[in-house]
Amino acid sequence: MPEAANGGASWWTDALDQSRRIGATLLAAATIAATTAGGAEMADHTYTAEALATGAEVYVENCALCHGPDGTWVPDVNLARGEFPTVVTDADLRRVITEGAAGGRMPAFNLNANRLDGIIAFMRTGFDPDGEPVMLGDARRGATVFNGAGGCSACHRVNGVGPYTAPDLSNVARRRTPAALQRAIRQPETALLPINRAVTILTRDEELIEGRRLNEDTFTVQLMDAKGQLRSLAKADLVRFEVAQAPTHQPTLLSDDDVADLVAYLLTLRR
Ligand code: HEC
Ligand code: HEC
Repeated sequence: MPEAANGGASWWTDALDQSRRIGATLLAAATIAATTAGGAEMADHTYTAEALATGAEVYVENCALCHGPDGTWVPDVNLARGEFPTVVTDADLRRVITEGAAGGRMPAFNLNANRLDGIIAFMRTGFDPDGEPVMLGDARRGATVFNGAGGCSACHRVNGVGPYTAPDLSNVARRRTPAALQRAIRQPETALLPINRAVTILTRDEELIEGRRLNEDTFTVQLMDAKGQLRSLAKADLVRFEVAQAPTHQPTLLSDDDVADLVAYLLTLRR
């Protein structure tokens, strides 16, 4: 158990509190440690409002000088959006912060467990001090939920596999913060872009097209049809053009634990 060995006391207290998950966590930690490059696992963790406030403070004092107030000053790194050259999991983040990076261009920081938790929470919620707490579960379990019980793969495409009915999620971690991902699953009506709504179209040539709107202006509409083809249609050629009122994506009935695992999994999706 690498985390326990290097003394992340409060990190593990949180996990230990969730005793009903601990068996799965230990098992997952063991398997993931064996398979990921850094040997790091995405352990269970809940970000609290208190941690976020601490994190904002730590950021201003220690990181903003180089990374800038919005986390974008170092090339190829965007701390608010979670764009890291090598980091994937929270354990990786801990390692970079406590050991430094880029051959010493980023120094090692000696932060106590509380402040370390805080700075990670602050980055993971997209630098929002009022950000909603996000729970990250186990990414490998999340992949199983995504393709199984969660039914996500029935609509979403990942890394070249799956239908075109819904946005391709292969790169979603580059576009969305952890909080936004959690919201997309829990409360899609508040999180998702209306432009992405399902459309039903009948053309003058009597072609019936079902798809997902990507863009629209006064005279044209662009969409992805059910076969995954991009179409651009002139509105003047359409007999019927209906846009779904509600998001296709229904609020999930999955447990909090499953959602936490899904968010962890989605965070690994970046090309
Ligand atoms: C003295 C300047 C400096 C300070 C201060 C600094 N960093 Fe960095 N950081 C860098 C540089 C330079 C890189 C780019 C590394 C690279 O190019 O691979 C970097 C990279 C990173 C990465 C990405 C690592 C990876 O390989 O994916 C993270 C995460 C990060 N910093 C977090 C932080 C946090 C959090 C703090 C404050 C506790 C901080 N940094 C303070 C200079 C700094
Ligand atoms: C019935 C089809 C369907 C299912 C099932 C579904 N989604 Fe979606 N999802 C969509 C559509 C369509 C959108 C685009 C917005 C909209 O119209 O709701 C979307 C949007 C999203 C987004 C935001 C994408 C972005 O680019 O911001 C995420 C994240 C997401 N879904 C994750 C999931 C996860 C995780 C599951 C499984 C729990 C899931 N979806 C199940 C259809 C679906």
